[in-house]
Amino acid sequence: MHDIVQDYYGRQLQHSGDLKTSACCDISQVPEWLKPLLSRIHPEVLSRYYGCGLVCPPLLTGCRVLDLGCGSGRDVYALAQLVGPTGEVVGVDMTDEQLAVAERHRAFHAEAFGYDNVRFVQGYIERLDELGLEPGSFDVIVSNCVVNLSPDKDAVLSGVQRLLKPGGEFFFSDVYADRRVPAAVRNDPVLYGECLGGALYWNDFLRLSHRQGFIDPRLVTDRPLAITDPALQPRVGNLHFYSATYRLFKLDTLETACEDHGQAVVYRGSIPDCPERFVLDKHHSIETGRVFPVCGNTWRMLHDTRFASHFDFIGDFSRHFGLFAGCGGGLPFDTAGTDAGVTPCC
Ligand SMILES: C[S@@+](CC[C@H](N)C(=O)[O-])C[C@H]1O[C@@H](n2cnc3c(N)ncnc32)[C@H](O)[C@@H]1O
Repeated sequence: MHDIVQDYYGRQLQHSGDLKTSACCDISQVPEWLKPLLSRIHPEVLSRYYGCGLVCPPLLTGCRVLDLGCGSGRDVYALAQLVGPTGEVVGVDMTDEQLAVAERHRAFHAEAFGYDNVRFVQGYIERLDELGLEPGSFDVIVSNCVVNLSPDKDAVLSGVQRLLKPGGEFFFSDVYADRRVPAAVRNDPVLYGECLGGALYWNDFLRLSHRQGFIDPRLVTDRPLAITDPALQPRVGNLHFYSATYRLFKLDTLETACEDHGQAVVYRGSIPDCPERFVLDKHHSIETGRVFPVCGNTWRMLHDTRFASHFDFIGDFSRHFGLFAGCGGGLPFDTAGTDAGVTPCC
């Protein structure tokens, strides 16, 4: 599979417009705050962007960030501006042609930003231990439309777990399916290269995360993907695909369900660019100044991470009130605009 993917991203695709699905975000989906950052990035880097989501979580100043499958480096150069001169961003990719574009424009970006805080490493994301990266040394690991391409996703998450600092997070966008992808789709080189063939059934992704010690994966955003190439559409049949961004915290105290300890948090409104509310995930948009009840896991994701100083914390773990209301179950993605949620007439 590595050879097929290297050929696809190294030789067959030349720019974002060559993709055959709506996986790649268009400019209308880019938030306002990101536009000035992207405007400082070299056009050739931007033209070879093949991501499917936004991998810039808040509060990155001074952080060490690793980008798995960085491609030509669009996200690396955006993140470089967010971490600033006291932070560092390392991009890993296996494809020569992609890394050559990223490297070619390093001096251009150092000049534009006023500092050089990026590094690119050639290698496989399944073998992160071979790249000389120090275990427990990254605050945040990101990845944009890459894990689906890996033939060994357990190895990828195991490497992420090893490289993250305690309290760090894997914040990544990828493609998921609403059911297990059949062999005919998985073995189709174009569907694989297009990030569909290797996509995980969402519930298998949750199992994979649990297996690798990420006990409470949090869905941040999602959107259905359209197969825009008419020749590919019949080949996927009734499968539905979604682009989704998850955040996985490295916290060894998380529980397998959201337990209610009667706790709450109050957001201080102090995270840059988030004065009105802090969005932890799709179900936790925490308004500034409001007492916001949380389960034990959410409490820990705010209390034991880089977000702690931006919250006041009410309560502790001394009491337990049962399962937190509204926890879990069912397809987590919005199905609007697809036929996935339509029940056929009996
Ligand atoms: C869909 S592109 C996304 C590139 C980049 N993240 C972006 O947003 O433009 C997938 C990238 O992942 C890289 N890749 C895929 N599988 C990989 C693996 N197992 N190890 C390292 N890089 C990989 C490919 O070379 C390619 O550059």
